[in-house]
Amino acid sequence: MRLHEYYFGNIIKGGKAIDKNTNFYTKIVDDFESYENWEKDFRAVGSMRGIGWVVLYYDGKADQLFNAWINEHDVGHLSGAIPMLVMDVFEHAFMIDYGLKRADYIEAFFKAIDWTIDPDTDKWIFKWMRMKKEAG
Ligand SMILES: [Fe+2]
Repeated sequence: MRLHEYYFGNIIKGGKAIDKNTNFYTKIVDDFESYENWEKDFRAVGSMRGIGWVVLYYDGKADQLFNAWINEHDVGHLSGAIPMLVMDVFEHAFMIDYGLKRADYIEAFFKAIDWTIDPDTDKWIFKWMRMKKEAG
């Protein structure tokens, strides 16, 4: 249930572009070398065979963003990692509107992402980034 709340919470009609002045955007670029690389990887994970979820996680302990495939709500979540963006890739999420064209669904999802970044979350990511830099 929680993943559905995140999923519907991170999409909005018409979408909202990511603010390139946020720490979160900088973190994506740092960890994936570019925003485009992150997007390519996220789409590739979502195109894998099977049904499940794609989650952009932030692992605070490792100070690392990564995309992961999750099969079920209650199985396979990575301890301590926080979901930052969630895409439902169960058939019920796209079959009615897109049939077997999962790529079209993923395209529509990307156009609907609400990249509104909570200022507290953005500050918190900055705190981790600064701590990591200070630690050398
Ligand atoms: Fe679902």
